Amino acid sequence: MAFNIALVGCGGMGLRHAHGYVELIKTFGASGAPGAGPLEMIAVCDRHEGPAKKVADLIEQGTGKRPAIFLDFDTMLRDLKSLDAVDIVTDTPMHHRFAMAAMDAGLHAMTEKPMGLTLKACRMMRETAMRAGKVIAVAENYRRDPVNRLSRALLDGGAIGRPYFALDVALSSARGGVMHGTVWRAKRDQAGGTVLDAGVHNADMLLYLMGPARTVYAETATFERQRELRGMESQSPQLAEFYSHRVETGGSAGDMIEHDAADTAFAVVRFESGAIGQLSLSDTSHGERVGQSSVHGSDGTLIRTQSRSGKPAEIRREGESIKGADLLALVPEFRLDDVTAGLWGSDRVGSYDFEFRETDRKIVAIEYADFARAVATGTQPEVGPQEGMAALALAYGVMESGEAGVPVSVDDVVSGAVSKFQDDIDRTMGI
Ligand SMILES: NC(=O)c1ccc[n+]([C@@H]2O[C@H](COP(=O)([O-])OP(=O)(O)OC[C@H]3O[C@@H](n4cnc5c(N)ncnc54)[C@H](O)[C@@H]3O)[C@@H](O)[C@H]2O)c1
Repeated sequence: MAFNIALVGCGGMGLRHAHGYVELIKTFGASGAPGAGPLEMIAVCDRHEGPAKKVADLIEQGTGKRPAIFLDFDTMLRDLKSLDAVDIVTDTPMHHRFAMAAMDAGLHAMTEKPMGLTLKACRMMRETAMRAGKVIAVAENYRRDPVNRLSRALLDGGAIGRPYFALDVALSSARGGVMHGTVWRAKRDQAGGTVLDAGVHNADMLLYLMGPARTVYAETATFERQRELRGMESQSPQLAEFYSHRVETGGSAGDMIEHDAADTAFAVVRFESGAIGQLSLSDTSHGERVGQSSVHGSDGTLIRTQSRSGKPAEIRREGESIKGADLLALVPEFRLDDVTAGLWGSDRVGSYDFEFRETDRKIVAIEYADFARAVATGTQPEVGPQEGMAALALAYGVMESGEAGVPVSVDDVVSGAVSKFQDDIDRTMGI
C-alpha cells in the first residue's frame, strides 16, 4: 500500500516539491525508492486556487495521476481519510500550526526549513510528535547535495587534519528588493530576512560539517528598511520559473514594503569540538558579491562551492591542490546512499553538470524518500526535530546575540532559556 501524502502550500517552493515528487516517481517507478516503498501525492492544498491547480497539473502531467485539490487545510484533514502524511511548504508562520494539527489527526509531517517559526513553536511540534508517535521531518536540502556529502566524508576521513575554523560568508545584493518578491520574507515576525530564511541553510551546513555549536556572538543590522516589491525575474532569474504562478496578497509590484527583518549579520561561532566558525550574511552588499565557504585544518583547507551548483570542492595543502574526481581517491570508502546514487547514476560523485532545476528536483526527491523511509522503518529521518532545531537555534542565536549584545549558548536557545528576541514573535503570532 502506498504512503499517501498531501502537498500543502503551492507557491514557489511548493512547485519545486511537485517537481521533486515527479522526479521520484520517474526515477524509481511505482514501487518507490530503495528502503522507502511506494509514495503517492494524492492531494495538494493552497488557499489560492490558481497555484493549487498549477501544481496539480504538473503532477498529473508528470505521473498520469491527478491529485485532489483543497483550498482549506482543515477541510482536507477532515475529508481525506486515506491520507498518511502532509508535506508543509507554506510560508514559515504556518509550519507549526499545520504540522501539529496533522499529527494530532494521526498523520506524519514534513515541513520545509526552517522547521518552525521560533524555537518555542519547534518544541511544541516535537512534543506533539512524541505524544502522537508520529514522524516529523525537515526538508533541509543543502546537505543532501552529493558534493556536500563528499565534503563531509573528506572531513571525517581527516583530509585536512583537525578542523580549526570554518568560514561561511554570503554577501550579496537584493538591489533594494524584497527577497523572492514575497512580502512575508521582509518581516521579522514571520522568520523573514537573510538570517532566518537563508541563514538557516548556512547554519545547517556548518553543523553538518563541524558538529554541534556551543556559543554564538553576533552583530546584526537592518540597513535597508524600505524595499521594493518586484517580480522574481529581477530578483533571481534562476528561481523565476518557480514563482510566476504564486499569488502575493501583501502588495503589488512597485510597492515599497517595510522590511523590519535583519538583512545583515556577522557572527562568530564556537563549536563543541573547540573549532571556531565565522558566519557572515547580508543582502545589502551592493556592487560586490562575496562568497566563501571553507574549513581550515591542521593539514590543509577544504574549499566548498555553492550548494547545488555541482561544482567540485577542493582540498588545498601547502603546494598542492586536489579537486573533483581526484578527491574521491582520498576517501576510497565513500559511497552515496542508494536513493542519491539512483538519482545521480553513481554512488561516487565528485561533481556534476546539471541545470539548477534538475539538481533541485533530485534533492527534493531524496527528501521525500527519506521521509517515507523513516515512517516505513520507524526510525528518525536524517533531518528530524533535533537537527531542525539545532540549525534554527544557531540562526536565532545570531539574532538573540545581535539584539542582546552578548554571546549566547546555542543549547539555551534550543531549550528556551534564551528567547528575548523570539518572545516578541511568539506573542505577536500567538505561540
Ligand atoms: N529549501 C529551500 O531551498 C527553500 C527555498 C524556498 C523556500 N523555502 C521554504 O519553503 C516555504 C515556502 O516558501 P515559498 O518561497 O514557496 O513561499 P511562497 O509564499 O511562494 O508560498 C507559500 C504558499 O503557501 C500558501 N499558504 C499560505 N498560508 C496558507 C494556508 N493557511 N493554507 C493554504 N495555503 C497557504 C500560499 O498561498 C503560498 O502559495 C518557506 O518556509 C521557505 O522558507 C525553502
